Amino acid sequence: MLLEANRINVNIGPVQVLRNLTINIEKGETISLVGRNGAGKTSTIKSIIGLYQVKSGKIIFDGQEITTVPPHVRATELGIGYSPEDSRVFPDLTVEENIKLGIWLSRRIKDEKEIEEIIFSIFTEIKKLWKRRGLYCSGGEKKMVSIARALALKPKLLLLDEAFEGLAPIVVDRFIKAVNQIKEMGIAILVAESNVNNAARVGERLYAIDRGEIIYEGEPQKIFQDQTLLNIIRGY
Ligand SMILES: Nc1ncnc2c1ncn2[C@@H]1O[C@H](COP(=O)(O)OP(=O)(O)OP(=O)(O)O)[C@@H](O)[C@H]1O
Ligand SMILES: [Mg+2]
Repeated sequence: MLLEANRINVNIGPVQVLRNLTINIEKGETISLVGRNGAGKTSTIKSIIGLYQVKSGKIIFDGQEITTVPPHVRATELGIGYSPEDSRVFPDLTVEENIKLGIWLSRRIKDEKEIEEIIFSIFTEIKKLWKRRGLYCSGGEKKMVSIARALALKPKLLLLDEAFEGLAPIVVDRFIKAVNQIKEMGIAILVAESNVNNAARVGERLYAIDRGEIIYEGEPQKIFQDQTLLNIIRGY
């Protein structure tokens, strides 16, 4: 097992945002986490990367307990890549600088050319954007840059928060292809997604979350057989 989040509870002020949440990811596996707005998807990802503190429960990554390990150590040393839902592309830096920032800070990865080749093989579009400032990138381009930045640190696990949000259907297809290519590189992926159709397309296994609790875990396609569950996920 690559990641085990075991019965974690997370509070933000007086609000309990995650309740006894358990998520497991095998090495190289792609899973999707689906739930309506406010269900707890971002909170789950932020707890895995360490931006939210866990009140009880354990997080184990690659055989090591990381429950209290700081986020930058999880990202740069342990190999957990994170692309946040708002992309966080710096407007004044070029695409190249945005992507290489993590490498420069980590001082761990030496071969920038190799990283460039990996990124261009997944997002050929980024080559043309290389010297463009973040300010002039479209929403979809920023999502690519954000994913590329996480990939540049050669993660074992990639956390993608709302990777397809706001993208046109044809661009969603493009991103799903990219996710599959990343998977072929042996990287495990967690995709948080509010659209259940997209979530079911991308994951080998699917978790559904509502009110901070996991309410389904299993085969993605089976979720379409349970109308009650679908209504909760779609927020009806
Ligand atoms: N920093 C915070 N302060 C207060 N409440 C928070 C904070 N972070 C999350 N919450 C609350 O926790 C719940 C879960 O939020 P979260 O962002 O994890 O949901 P989400 O599933 O990612 O939603 P969305 O699809 O809208 O991105 C929400 O009710 C939210 O208001
Ligand atoms: Mg969110």
